[in-house]
Amino acid sequence: MLSTQRWHIRRLRASVSTFADDVREGLLAVPRRLPAKYLYDALGSLLFDAITALPEYYLTRAEREILERDGDAVVAAAGSPDELVELGGGSGAKTQLLVEAALRATPSVQLHAVDIAEEAIEAAARRMVERHPALTIVGYAGDYEAGLEALRLDGRRALMLFLGSNIGNLDPHDACALMLLMRTALRTGDALLLGTDLRKDSAVLEAAYSDALGVTAAFERNILVRINRELGGTFDLARFRHVAAYDVESGCVTSRLVCLRSQEVHIAALGLTLRIQAGETIHTENSYKYDEAEIDAMAAAGGFERVTSWYDAAHAFALSLLRVA
Ligand code: AVJ
Repeated sequence: MLSTQRWHIRRLRASVSTFADDVREGLLAVPRRLPAKYLYDALGSLLFDAITALPEYYLTRAEREILERDGDAVVAAAGSPDELVELGGGSGAKTQLLVEAALRATPSVQLHAVDIAEEAIEAAARRMVERHPALTIVGYAGDYEAGLEALRLDGRRALMLFLGSNIGNLDPHDACALMLLMRTALRTGDALLLGTDLRKDSAVLEAAYSDALGVTAAFERNILVRINRELGGTFDLARFRHVAAYDVESGCVTSRLVCLRSQEVHIAALGLTLRIQAGETIHTENSYKYDEAEIDAMAAAGGFERVTSWYDAAHAFALSLLRVA
């Protein structure tokens, strides 16, 4: 098949620490925590895709609305890039819209797709090269840091994509550090398209992260299923409830797993036994929300300046084009 020659995936080593080390460190911390990037195993990636179809989770629909309406304007403002670099694109549903817009403006496009979920990159790559004969894809299976380090740009003009409010997983300090890394991977004239969820009413935000169907709870609790399977853990899932809370001050929705009944958990691969008390929590994810001034400050701290932003009709979500300063 010709199309199989137009994509390949590089499997990158985790740059800093492995799943086992991170789980040990997080579960022994006070309060306990687990890094959000580990939510995306094969099942977690599918559960996240299900989240994007929930009535309460407006983020993906809002961003898609912007890309469908303004994709060509984004590509033009970015100088008709022939290289797209996406961090955390997952199943690639929104990437596809930008690939199509880029291919309307330039004859051929190379996509560099960095994602922690190799299964998701592969499925997206197969689908996209099949559909677009002028597209080639290099996948990087690993975290953002490893992907940015492995990346080599050799096209005329690059546009980096960091969509879906993925930046919101990082606290302000880590977000700034990642912006600087992205900046370093780009050249003068290149740009970054940053998707950020906007600050809004608490009730809307809390509903988006604690949907009535319980899909978000399944997504967050799946990290315990993963520890049980991959590290020989004995978490009793029935004893953990997912709770999301919005803090207006910081603009952050925090997801936690609350232990309902005390339990002893053994994790064979770590040689670790923990007693988790009723009421104790395990922090799984932060989802920061922004206003325009915060987006500008984040851009500036990372060595970018904001050229323009596009919004959905409800003004729930922003797509901002940032130019290397
Ligand atoms: C993919 C990290 C942007 O924080 O909104 C959705 C993940 N977690 N529902 C988000 C998520 C719970 C999502 N990000």
